[in-house]
Amino acid sequence: MALVMAHKGFKVIGIDNDKEKCKIIMQKKIPFFEPKSEDLLNATLDKNLKITSSLNSAVSNSDIIFICVGTPNNPDGSVNLSFLKKVSLNIGKALRNMNRYPVIVVKSTAPPGTTNNIVKTEIERVSSKKAGIDFGLATNPEFMREGSAIDDMLFPHLIVIGTNDLETKKKLHELYETMYKDNIPSILSTTIINSELIKYTNNAFLATKISFINTIANICSKTPGADVEIIAKAIGKDPRIGPLFLNAGPGYGGSCFSKDVSGFLNFSKSLGYTPILLESTQLVNQMQPILIVDMVEKKLGNIKNKKISILGIAFKKNTDDIRESASLEIIRHLLKKQAILNVHDPQALDNLRKVFKNKLKYCKDIIDCLFDTVCCLVLTDWDEYKKLKPKDFKAYMKNPFVFDARRIFNPQKMNSIEYLAIGYKAQNY
Ligand code: UDX
Repeated sequence: MALVMAHKGFKVIGIDNDKEKCKIIMQKKIPFFEPKSEDLLNATLDKNLKITSSLNSAVSNSDIIFICVGTPNNPDGSVNLSFLKKVSLNIGKALRNMNRYPVIVVKSTAPPGTTNNIVKTEIERVSSKKAGIDFGLATNPEFMREGSAIDDMLFPHLIVIGTNDLETKKKLHELYETMYKDNIPSILSTTIINSELIKYTNNAFLATKISFINTIANICSKTPGADVEIIAKAIGKDPRIGPLFLNAGPGYGGSCFSKDVSGFLNFSKSLGYTPILLESTQLVNQMQPILIVDMVEKKLGNIKNKKISILGIAFKKNTDDIRESASLEIIRHLLKKQAILNVHDPQALDNLRKVFKNKLKYCKDIIDCLFDTVCCLVLTDWDEYKKLKPKDFKAYMKNPFVFDARRIFNPQKMNSIEYLAIGYKAQNY
């Protein structure tokens, strides 16, 4: 967000209390893998973009302050709001001697009510100033996906502005109208509480859509002749359903869906309503890696001491992020059954090594990963895996059996080897 805003001509100060991260960014390096971000950093740093760890002076010199801190889950599924609270306290301190009317915007995803109950309360307490009188307060959820965050920021499908204050609404409209000039996306202005609910609902719906298609895939896996891809293609043509987010797979991962559905569940339960649909969404997702291991086991028999190759660790392509990735659960189950695992990922191996240490063979090369294995599990949809042909599996594997958990191959083109895929080819017949 900072990179795109700087690229669009705004003066942006990026603040983080992690000095090490700031140092890396100041050396024009991005501390994670995200396409296009390093180019934008190179183009904007020391021009429109400055990086600092000193919140006080940066906030005092800003008209609009976006809060983008993490809101991770606590072990019980509730949301840890301590980072939001701390940053609100620090913003409150910075506001004490400020005479302008800055606008504080919450970008972080948090349970409905948080902006008023935590952010507003804390800033007002520490600064002795009042929201709507001395400073503006708004929520402005983001819909950026990892792997395409820059493009999502450049071409958003919608901008949601949640505020109960006219002056703040005007300033944020101006900001986005200036930013997108001739190509202004839809802007929806609403209250803070609706805006907070929009973000949770958006993620809960997408997660449910994935769990829905995974459920259909699992039914297809047991139905002779069925193929979930054809079913998804057909229902996706119905404008009431739409074609996106109907790719069956090993289950959703990443830093948002699971965390936000849990947070939403928790929020709803605290009001006395248990949303069983969302509970099922999560349960289907937790079961999906187990089902995949079951299907592999059904095909291979006892997998103890069998050598299996895994292509793809990141929770989706074009990222090195492995948080909540289904690959981790699948690896855990396979290790429990004492399989021997070769793993490959174009970007995520360093992150994976921190979790599984010497329990896996980490392969920089796809061929090295496939070599001598009796099963290849495709778990992430990286483009380079899509280029593999049956002859590659035949040439390097001991027994060319591919389980395509991402549906990256055309089954017709794989019929010269053993090929199973999620939602394709019955298991019990
Ligand atoms: C998500 C939301 O899409 C984004 O709007 C929000 O701001 C942050 O959370 P992200 O987690 O980066 O973005 O990735 P996304 O593309 O939504 O994918 C999430 C997971 O769902 C991935 O593991 C992906 O592989 C999986 N997925 C997605 C499917 O299994 N099938 C699909 O059809 C789509």
